[in-house]
Amino acid sequence: MLADDRVGLRHSTRSAIVTGGASGIGKATCEVLARDGYRVAVFDRDELGARAVADAIGGSAFACDVTDERAIATAFERAIEALGAPLDALATPAGILDTTPFMELDAATFLRVYEINTIGTFLCIRQAVNYMQQGSRICTVSSVAGKRGGGLHGTAAYAASKGAVIALTRSAARDLAARGIAVNGVAPGPVLTPMLQASLDDESKRAHLEGSTLLGRAANPTEIAEAIAWLLSPAASYVNGEMLSVDGGLLLD
Ligand SMILES: NC(=O)c1ccc[n+]([C@@H]2O[C@H](COP(=O)([O-])OP(=O)(O)OC[C@H]3O[C@@H](n4cnc5c(N)ncnc54)[C@H](O)[C@@H]3O)[C@@H](O)[C@H]2O)c1
Repeated sequence: MLADDRVGLRHSTRSAIVTGGASGIGKATCEVLARDGYRVAVFDRDELGARAVADAIGGSAFACDVTDERAIATAFERAIEALGAPLDALATPAGILDTTPFMELDAATFLRVYEINTIGTFLCIRQAVNYMQQGSRICTVSSVAGKRGGGLHGTAAYAASKGAVIALTRSAARDLAARGIAVNGVAPGPVLTPMLQASLDDESKRAHLEGSTLLGRAANPTEIAEAIAWLLSPAASYVNGEMLSVDGGLLLD
């Protein structure tokens, strides 16, 4: 047997579910995985957007709000019918930004951000595991805000929710190792997506965001998607519980 076969590098028709796949990093992840030969199920609460992405890549689309446990169960069931079992890969970019100033932040806003970014990620991981097998891989999406406590754009609720994604990723890696499932994540810096559009349209905010990186620019969503695709691939077979900064060197400053 070739070494490649042992780690699944020759697995030709891998399957993937991507949450938040209608826009930005999730959309780019769907495109990169489809390019790499995956059968892709696009999940998003924006059903029309998910459909457009799925149509463009030859995948399938499923309406799914990641805070709705019943909707998640139904979407996974239907997606597995379309993809076939087992599920090889899950990416969880679905998320929202919050920029409420610290002293104006209330519990309801904090809870909403946490519900989508953190609990939504957990619920999708837990559901995906039901359909996974040894060698399956998961990639979460945190942020540099989760590593350094905001300071760029997202404020306390966002930073805390993304810090929690880092702890969740490590915890899931520990708990799912016995099943042979690897869990990693990416922590992007500023990325040119609709989430950041308002700031990028403001010249001084754009200069601040771009100037915070060593590369002096924001990332294209595909640059984040390529890192996610690598962490989901058998090529990353010895990487587990890792939170990879994909930030143009931002965290060095
Ligand atoms: N853009 C950046 O600069 C940046 C930086 C670091 C981390 N991130 C993270 O990357 C992820 C993707 O962000 P993006 O920039 O591509 O944003 P985006 O707004 O372009 O895409 C987010 C997608 O998630 C979906 N979504 C939101 N809430 C959902 C829910 N409850 N259920 C299902 N889908 C939901 C939206 O409909 C949208 O399609 C987010 O978790 C974000 O926090 C983004």
